[in-house]
Amino acid sequence: MAKVVVALGGSLLRPEVKDRHNWLLELVSILRDRVSSGDRIALVVGGGAPAREGIELARPIIGDISHLDRIGIAATRLNATIVREALSDEGIEVSGNIPESVEEAASELGYFDVVVMGGTVPGHTTDAVAISLAIEVGAMKCIIATNVSNVYSEDPKSNPGAKAFDDLTLNQLQEIVGPPKHGGAGGSQVVDPVGVGNAVANGLALDILDGRKTERIRGSLEGLEFDGTKVRG
Ligand code: UTP
Repeated sequence: MAKVVVALGGSLLRPEVKDRHNWLLELVSILRDRVSSGDRIALVVGGGAPAREGIELARPIIGDISHLDRIGIAATRLNATIVREALSDEGIEVSGNIPESVEEAASELGYFDVVVMGGTVPGHTTDAVAISLAIEVGAMKCIIATNVSNVYSEDPKSNPGAKAFDDLTLNQLQEIVGPPKHGGAGGSQVVDPVGVGNAVANGLALDILDGRKTERIRGSLEGLEFDGTKVRG
């Protein structure tokens, strides 16, 4: 039985994602297929719009970053609940609660085909949670489903000449995202540098891809070629 962890960026649930209801149904169908092939899958859902909006509302009046992080965590759990209910409604064997720690999620994965969670504690993002969970359960890899096609040498929005990578080593990825420090509540990087630090330390394989294209999530879960960035030790 293969275990895989998928970090689903919160931006994937936003109205800008073309036909997001269909996106959710396709995700359900992919998970159903993987589960019937014997996989156990953990989804770690990001905070997206409600996290950004909540943090921006509170930022001018709350000085302590960890308190802003807690607002972000609440948003990730709201989004995780949406995904959990969608899976459950479609008949997937998914854990009943939204686990609040990596240990709790790891234990639930012993009983259910699918576990859905959001954030845990202040100081990192859900990418880092997904990577810790993948290490904890001995997953074969962690998929980071985000809203860009690849990891780039620089931010492609500000530098159109930035190079898209198909393959990277974990150390190269750490160089690109910077040292493993928390960038502050609501900060956005292609992958959380804190999580990358943990992946480097544990030699965890990462597949980073555009989660809006569900066939890429499917390809990565099935161990096939997919468009995106493959990061190995
Ligand atoms: P996200 O995981 O959504 O991070 O958590 P992100 O990279 O800002 O956004 P996406 O992935 O593009 O949607 C939102 C915020 O919640 C807090 C952090 O402040 C983070 O920026 N958070 C989340 C934590 O402090 N701990 C967690 O375990 C998860």
